[in-house]
Amino acid sequence: MAEFEKVATLDEIPTGGRLSLVFDDRAVLVFRIGEELYAVEDVCSHDGQPLTDGALEGTSIECPRHGARFDVRSGRPLCMPAVEPIATFEVRVQGNDILLRAP
Ligand code: FES
Repeated sequence: MAEFEKVATLDEIPTGGRLSLVFDDRAVLVFRIGEELYAVEDVCSHDGQPLTDGALEGTSIECPRHGARFDVRSGRPLCMPAVEPIATFEVRVQGNDILLRAP
């Protein structure tokens, strides 16, 4: 199983913020929602649009292209036109460091 790797620090993502990065050769979007951190692959499962600038409502991110929404906790699609989930990454916090593990 893959190891956790440091990708950022907590001060890079204020509460309510997000950070785009590359991890495991994939574009990843990390969200800080309340006290929790979530990481998803930054690629819509409908037609490949980056979710980087999508509107976040609660734990739901909207694809800016055709409006599909995904739950960032699970990657699960919440509405059409997406029917497939997006990948998620395990997140761990160690001190001030944010670590991810590839699925
Ligand atoms: S590319 Fe995201 S909804 Fe179509």
